[in-house]
Amino acid sequence: MSGTATLEIDGKKYEFPITVGTENEVAIEISSLRNVTNGVTTLDPGYKNTGSCESAITFLDGEQGILRYRGYAIEELAEKADFLEVAYLLIFGELPTREQLQKFHRDIKEQSIVAEDMKKILDGFPQAAHPMGVLSSLTSALIAFNPSSVNVDSEEEMYKAIVKIMGKFPVLTAWTYRKRAGLPLDYGDDSLGYVENFLKMMFKKPHSEFKRNEIVSNAMDKLLILHADHEQNCSTSTVRMVGSSHAGLFASLSAGISALWGPLHGGANQAVIEMLEAIKADGGDTKKYMAKAKDKDDPFRLMGFGHRVYKNFDPRAKIIKTAADDVLASLGIDDPILDIAKGLEKEALEDSYFVDRKLYPNVDFYSGIIYRSLGIPVEMFTPMFALGRLPGWIAQWREMRLRKEPIGRPRQIYIGETLRSFKDIDHR
Ligand code: SDX
Repeated sequence: MSGTATLEIDGKKYEFPITVGTENEVAIEISSLRNVTNGVTTLDPGYKNTGSCESAITFLDGEQGILRYRGYAIEELAEKADFLEVAYLLIFGELPTREQLQKFHRDIKEQSIVAEDMKKILDGFPQAAHPMGVLSSLTSALIAFNPSSVNVDSEEEMYKAIVKIMGKFPVLTAWTYRKRAGLPLDYGDDSLGYVENFLKMMFKKPHSEFKRNEIVSNAMDKLLILHADHEQNCSTSTVRMVGSSHAGLFASLSAGISALWGPLHGGANQAVIEMLEAIKADGGDTKKYMAKAKDKDDPFRLMGFGHRVYKNFDPRAKIIKTAADDVLASLGIDDPILDIAKGLEKEALEDSYFVDRKLYPNVDFYSGIIYRSLGIPVEMFTPMFALGRLPGWIAQWREMRLRKEPIGRPRQIYIGETLRSFKDIDHR
């Protein structure tokens, strides 16, 4: 499809160019709309029908349940790549050669030391503070220890900032957990792989050697790949919006972490387990929760179900569901909430409320069951999502800056009071 779209307003016709992407997605390019129509804008709460940018990073087709990073199918990457390879692919656009990957990992290791004074900031938080709030604050605090903002016109400076946050973020994530668990902070071991080193920083006991477990590190690596990017979701759009004002990379990432925290977004993985545990405590009464989810007067939603874009199975949920069976079997874990989750999925997919609204399990529905089997506590599930999404946020921020996108500033339709005169306080 090419050519133009015609809009008629008050009997006057306006033409706007049609943009077609490499996967034949079609958009009406309306950047001249307000000027040519003397002030008319569009209105689209939640941007359900509005593209914010052109991007070459991730393609997803919600109707077909397709997800690709830089053209590679998520199913292939989850099976054949490792997380650092996928991070490199997302950020720089191509799968790395062996030498490029080794250099990337070496440079990241160089940066995986966090300034000792950051521990004083961490100590300032109450032990019960939610890890997402701590992580967002620590990421923002990194700016104070790395004040120079990124000169995006310098590939070298951009690369340095990228390996810096890729090196420090796993440390901050693990420290956030250990602070909450009352454990001494651990700096890891740079002889280990990226994901295995993160697991060591998380779980090494102060009085014993770290026990490597290939099943656990492979499962974690796969989960991080599956969370690595997802085009213009809420938190990525936040990272782009903040970065569009030319705020620094770390400040933009800190904002993205806060957006991801919400239970409608990345916080859903924690909410799913809490929901499944509640159902288990209720004697496995899934019907009660299905009824609550369908009751318009009840704010309860079936957490881990539904998606703004996927109106078919979330391909990541399919992969994670299979991995959950494999990981729990390999670890010899029989977790009754996995059966509850499968039962809930079956019931929902046979229920017209969910079928009519095309509500399927999303990435968050099964991920928590694996995280739990790996020994990760539920309040750390969303930080795991953030750790996976980090390269996607970086890639999207970098693309936005390199394409010199304008500052994000949506319009509105004002529905408030029209002009009125000030009233003296004694006459209100
Ligand atoms: C993520 O965008 C991304 O890519 C996000 C993400 C990523 O990788 O970055 O994929 C990660 O955030 C996954 C989503 C995790 N959130 C949840 O699991 C929370 C539960 N899901 C919902 O809150 C909801 O489905 C959203 C927020 C995910 C999507 O909401 P939309 O697109 O705004 O859809 P909607 O609220 O307009 O719902 C349409 C209808 C409504 O019913 P009607 O008014 O038409 O009668 O479906 C209903 C909703 O009430 N509905 C649900 C439901 N989700 C939608 N009803 C019950 N349970 C649900 N989970």
